[in-house]
Amino acid sequence: AQTPVKVTVTGAAGQIGYALLFRIASGQLLGADVPVKLSLLEIPQAVKAAEGTAMELDDCAFPLLSGIEVTDDANKAFDGASVALLVGARPRTAGMERGDLLQANGGIFGPQGKAINDNAADDIRVLVVGNPANTNSLIAQQHAPDVPAERFTAMTRLDHNRALSQLAAKLQVPVTEIKKMTIWGNHSATQYPDLFHAEVGGKVAAEQVDEAWLRDTFIPTVAKRGAAIIEARGASSAASAANAAIDHVFDWVNGTEWTSAAIPSDGSYGVPEGLISSFPVASRDGKWEIIQGLEIDAFSRERIDASVRELEEERAAVRELGLI
Ligand code: NAI
Repeated sequence: AQTPVKVTVTGAAGQIGYALLFRIASGQLLGADVPVKLSLLEIPQAVKAAEGTAMELDDCAFPLLSGIEVTDDANKAFDGASVALLVGARPRTAGMERGDLLQANGGIFGPQGKAINDNAADDIRVLVVGNPANTNSLIAQQHAPDVPAERFTAMTRLDHNRALSQLAAKLQVPVTEIKKMTIWGNHSATQYPDLFHAEVGGKVAAEQVDEAWLRDTFIPTVAKRGAAIIEARGASSAASAANAAIDHVFDWVNGTEWTSAAIPSDGSYGVPEGLISSFPVASRDGKWEIIQGLEIDAFSRERIDASVRELEEERAAVRELGLI
């Protein structure tokens, strides 16, 4: 039998954690034939709640789940881990400045990056979900000099899936008919969901919708969907975020021809090297590759640049704070 793969989830007692852990344990993260060991990392005050979730995981008797540990010690949590899902983060509270937010998250993602560096398995893959996800991923990466930089990623797959669903509803087609959707830039309100490379029925999506809808409805609806969910549900997206995390890791490990993921830039499309920015990506042999050769018109260029500028500002701010 295959040795179980250790998967570490931080913020395991939170709402995304609750929607995520059962799907990992059922085999949806890595594949239906891959046994997993779960490690749940929480802050001390939430360890008891995470232990409650672990009890429920036990009660599912998942055939693929070979063990569960719950801890508040990052070194232990990441010891031997092959997949790290960094979900726990410090949320922005009323009156909090960006500097305070970055500082608080630097205090989480710096030490977790170091713990990954010192303890994780050689094939470790990291997905940061906790916001500000792109910059938190950069902070963790910069504290893990022994881990290949490309193993640090951030999640824009929820934005990608939202874009698929909005376009499918507009054109009244099944989501499966949409190919080559792309989210560019930061997982924030500046993100750019691109319909100029997306295809529906083999034809460019942007040519099948009117420009006003694309500009004034589609882009803001996708970019502000998180706020709309909070407004409707009274809580932020959880099951859909967990679903996107599953999609991201599954495709990273098992391969895909085209999706969106925030990965370290190699300078492609004018995105400064090293920024963890969302791109159109394929996954081959367990590695993300930026899809090359796309023509970027002025409309897209302006929006990609605006989002990338925000990432550069975040990187400059965490440098100034001494967090990287
Ligand atoms: P939540 O507040 O329900 O849970 C967060 C959990 O993280 C809490 O249990 C907390 O105790 C834990 N935590 C805090 N600091 C920790 C640390 N240092 N180590 C381990 N655990 C720690 O939040 P929820 O709804 O589960 O969301 C988690 C994060 O995901 C938030 O930052 C949210 O903004 C982000 N998010 C990102 C999305 C994306 O598309 N990238 C989509 C939706 C949410």
